[in-house]
Amino acid sequence: METVSNAKQKIFAVAPMMEWTDRHCRVLHRALSARALLYTEMVTAEAVIRGDRGRLIGFDPFEHPVALQLGGAEPGRLAEATRIGADFGYDEINLNVGCPSDRVQSGRFGACLMKEPALVAACVAAMRSAACVPVTVKCRIGVDDQSPDEALRALIARCTDAGVSTFVVHARKALLRGLSPKENREIPPLNYELVYRAKRENPGLTIVLNGGIGDLDSAERHLGHVDGVMLGRAAYQSPFILGDIDARFFGQPARPIDGAIAHYVEYMSTKLGEGVPLNAMTRHMLGLFNGQPGARQFRRHLSENATKRGADISVLRAALSFVRPALALAA
Ligand SMILES: Cc1cc2nc3c(=O)[nH]c(=O)nc-3n(C[C@H](O)[C@H](O)[C@H](O)COP(=O)(O)O)c2cc1C
Repeated sequence: METVSNAKQKIFAVAPMMEWTDRHCRVLHRALSARALLYTEMVTAEAVIRGDRGRLIGFDPFEHPVALQLGGAEPGRLAEATRIGADFGYDEINLNVGCPSDRVQSGRFGACLMKEPALVAACVAAMRSAACVPVTVKCRIGVDDQSPDEALRALIARCTDAGVSTFVVHARKALLRGLSPKENREIPPLNYELVYRAKRENPGLTIVLNGGIGDLDSAERHLGHVDGVMLGRAAYQSPFILGDIDARFFGQPARPIDGAIAHYVEYMSTKLGEGVPLNAMTRHMLGLFNGQPGARQFRRHLSENATKRGADISVLRAALSFVRPALALAA
């Protein structure tokens, strides 16, 4: 079992989450941790190529290191979207091979690509040739009646041949018929051992474990077996845990939570001036004080008031007064 000290250079990532890890959320997360690797929501290659790029993939330089997650299954289109993402300044481009929603399946990408490792390899090869930032893959351990042993091995082998060296593995299958995306994050059982084994079999690869990691003690235990951990729901719902990771996993000074909040308040003030509604930014803060006195009033005040027309930073100041009286006055 490795100790924390030799786990220092490992990866701690916050998962890509549609509707959640938007650019505002990522600024909050970065304010809490300098070292967490942040991911965008999945954006389809077609949207990147044809859509309003500033709105879809624009980001604040403060967010670095930040990865763009793409959805798609056409090598040429993914290559084009990768080029655009790299030109925007993303540090990594990730291909989604794990999302089980119907919309994604009708486009024949996401988790159903687990059944087509050769096509995934063609996609990542094209993406790699389009840009010099790392191209990574986020996948499941299999779908439907696939044998996870074989499906994960086949995907990793094909993509490794195509030059990919980093895999984020959500350690459960996706069942493409009959389960909603939410159920597909909860019902198929987790199989961490399979992901540990992928690392043992491929010591030269970077294997990042995802799925069901609820706290930093569990994250630390997994880091004894793999190169990195990716937290999704736990990081979003309790973002304060990000405030501990720089010190605990990277030997760097922690970013004090009050300083992080002050940074986010300043960011919000600027964005409000650009017309971003307050709630689009405060909604990512709702879990920030979970477990602390005043957390419920903080959440309630924001939920009830931040959506009101013309809501401004004073709503947040008032909410903060329930949990951080001194900070609220200074903000
Ligand atoms: C609201 C929500 C949206 C998600 N959107 C994406 C997505 O866009 N791309 C992706 O690869 N995974 C997506 N996921 C899955 C997460 O990245 C992650 O694999 C999953 O939640 C398991 O990790 P966790 O148990 O730490 O939450 C989403 C998860 C949630 C909760």
